[in-house]
Amino acid sequence: MAATWSPDSWRSKPIVQVPDYPDSKALTDTEAKLATFPPLVFAGEARALRKSLAEVAAGNGFVLQGGDCAESFYEHGADNIRDFFRVFLQMAIVLTYAGGSPVVKLGRIAGQFAKPRSSPTEKKGDLELPSYRGDIINGPEFTAEARIPDPGRMLEAYRQSAATLNLIRAFATGGYADLDRVHQWNMGFVKDSPQGHRYQELADRIAETLAFMRACGITSENTPQLRSTSFYTSHEALLLGYEQALTRKDSTSGDWYATSGHMLWIGDRTRQPDHAHVEFFRGIKNPIGLKCGPSLEPDGLVKLIDILNPKDEPGRLTLICRFGHDKAAAALPKLIRAVQKAGKQVVWSCDPMHGNTISAAGGYKTRPFDRILKEVEVFFDVHRAEGTHAGGIHVEMTGKNVTECTGGAAAIAETDLSDRYHTLCDPRLNADQALELAFLVANRMKLEKESRGQPAPVVAAE
Ligand code: PEP
Ligand code: CO
Repeated sequence: MAATWSPDSWRSKPIVQVPDYPDSKALTDTEAKLATFPPLVFAGEARALRKSLAEVAAGNGFVLQGGDCAESFYEHGADNIRDFFRVFLQMAIVLTYAGGSPVVKLGRIAGQFAKPRSSPTEKKGDLELPSYRGDIINGPEFTAEARIPDPGRMLEAYRQSAATLNLIRAFATGGYADLDRVHQWNMGFVKDSPQGHRYQELADRIAETLAFMRACGITSENTPQLRSTSFYTSHEALLLGYEQALTRKDSTSGDWYATSGHMLWIGDRTRQPDHAHVEFFRGIKNPIGLKCGPSLEPDGLVKLIDILNPKDEPGRLTLICRFGHDKAAAALPKLIRAVQKAGKQVVWSCDPMHGNTISAAGGYKTRPFDRILKEVEVFFDVHRAEGTHAGGIHVEMTGKNVTECTGGAAAIAETDLSDRYHTLCDPRLNADQALELAFLVANRMKLEKESRGQPAPVVAAE
């Protein structure tokens, strides 16, 4: 590992999952242009997030990370952003109130555009074309033209990220996230579902508590924590040319920060210790995530932690485990023990989506909801047995009433998948399923607290 790091030092390392741009001049011109654009996030915000994550690493708090598998240029619009934000807030409030813990809200949004693929090509009938790699790289349409990597898409991804972030910041601080509106986040198709009713009851209890607090003089007018919330962005930093162009030196600390999002993560396919992605990540100061799949051995993990967080700064590294419902019970304890033995401080998070993808009839990729729940249960069981903190979940979800994952209270069947299957990449939880998962997680969080002899607080502001 080279001792010196620069935003472009990754370029001399082996790399996988990179697009083959036919026009290299257009690529360098676009990257140069991006390098002149303003940062999307500010280093101070990334530091604030790291501080919150350090609390989680210490056992106080929980990270909710979620959003689309792949954001879409075509679906970009205010309604989609609002619907996502609303369900995300609902989940966060369930975890905070019923789980009794502060929740770090981390969207997979405003930059989640580049996708690693298991195969470089995709075949339909006799036609074989390059795979779709996310809207920042090529188009999802199954035509030869759409699949040509186009650097101009990076500019559109930047524009969309900026617009999305702008609206979310407005929602988070401009009144939409005011706890007095807790009932209004429960709208649309979720309202009449069993999860919607459950949420309604919880919202009633919160409203009652707020009325009591108001009577005591604590209102959203005089207590900002009640009327606004902190929300952070994250994405897989796969397309390193784009990331490098947005990596800037922070004038206050002199450190380098990726400014395309608050937290970036390394995908399960690009975590080779001597490769380009790990090289890029080791030099940026943001909090980072590392996806841990079934092929990651304990020694390999400790080696990666030494490279990515040599000073063992709490909050710097979140390990996002995604083994599969049937593999987690064997894989996770080994990793936890190795990390404990090495004395490293990390946040443990569970991605119950990526190890549980199956092919259903009709060629749809889906995820059975009971397998997703199972992996979450195993995650909590194992942490309880090891005496470590189950610190977060990482989910692919949408605010829309899609039919992409089977099961859940609405019992979506494989034959229903074709009704509203809209994802560009992996199947997402719909709003109802996302809320159902949140209730289950909240219950497990409460049990964890009880097992440590900590009573769950009755109410928390965020
Ligand atoms: C993802 O999060 O969309 C993804 C591709 O995950 P993983 O790297 O864990 O497969
Ligand atoms: Co995915």
